[in-house]
Amino acid sequence: MLHTRVCDILGIRHPVVQAGMASYVTPELVAAVSNAGGLGLLGSVDWSYDELRARVEAIRALTSAPFGVNVVLATPHDEKLTYLLEARVPVIATSWGDPAPLVADVRAAGARLLHQVETPAEAAHAARAGVDVIIAQGSDGGGHIGHVGTLALTPAVVDAAAGVPVIAAGGIADGRGLAAALLLGAEGAMLGTRFLATPEAGVSGGWKDALVVAEADAAWQSDIPDLVWGVSWPGATTRALSNDILRAWRGREDALRADPAPAQDAVHAAEAADNADGYFLFAGQSAGLVHDITPAGALVERIVAEAEATLARW
Ligand SMILES: Cc1cc2nc3c(=O)[nH]c(=O)nc-3n(C[C@H](O)[C@H](O)[C@H](O)COP(=O)(O)O)c2cc1C
Repeated sequence: MLHTRVCDILGIRHPVVQAGMASYVTPELVAAVSNAGGLGLLGSVDWSYDELRARVEAIRALTSAPFGVNVVLATPHDEKLTYLLEARVPVIATSWGDPAPLVADVRAAGARLLHQVETPAEAAHAARAGVDVIIAQGSDGGGHIGHVGTLALTPAVVDAAAGVPVIAAGGIADGRGLAAALLLGAEGAMLGTRFLATPEAGVSGGWKDALVVAEADAAWQSDIPDLVWGVSWPGATTRALSNDILRAWRGREDALRADPAPAQDAVHAAEAADNADGYFLFAGQSAGLVHDITPAGALVERIVAEAEATLARW
């Protein structure tokens, strides 16, 4: 059985983490992954304080296994973080900012701190700050991403992390990816896109179907979603499946900068009509490896079994 330091630190059976993804992760998804022996992470960036608290309580009703919550440091988060620590959420998974000011408080609350980085320098800083685990997020991934691919980033982050365990993320959708992450020196894998194609995920049926048919080259890196919503995260761009809304604005970014209102109206209308061609379907290049909609617990088991078989062959 695959067992790494990450399993011991997080109290999980399998070194498989389901990424915290904004409003797209449900309590049912988090609980299914954690109950299967992985680590489920709730997103928090889109939730109000009350919405977050309701979801944490819902997770607790569904599992007694460790779980965590993602906190995007580039967005207002103080009140949410205070609640998460008071509520004794076992794992805090931060991204897009400096984790150093949080380390003492997270430790005092008895929680573990995972921090996601996009460069080796950020990894060295996070290691010095005292985080428990570093997530190396490659630009193959979905949602907000950096500029270095997972294959080159992961070993560089392992070197920079000075002994702090690393989890690889970005472009991983099956056991072969988990096995590759381990061979690169990581001690686990975090998957976002793959867990969207589960019955438990909180995205529309059209989004899930688009993931199943997508090829890897369908996941475009662009600034378009951030330009539409006026979001600016330092060093970040986004990756989403090519569809009508992305195609409509590709190459016309200056027009979006000048006036995002028409695009905002179009996205709102598409969301209301559940037209998956008209809103942003954030996904990584890993979408090309998604071929079915599978219950999340079974997915964790499948990924681990495939990784073990892959490693045994070598
Ligand atoms: C739909 C979607 C939403 C995401 N939302 C967040 C988020 O709220 N916070 C965050 O730190 N990362 C977010 N991410 C990035 C993931 O944490 C993770 O790094 C990424 O999904 C890994 O690549 P993969 O999608 O190829 O597995 C999101 C990714 C996706 C696909």
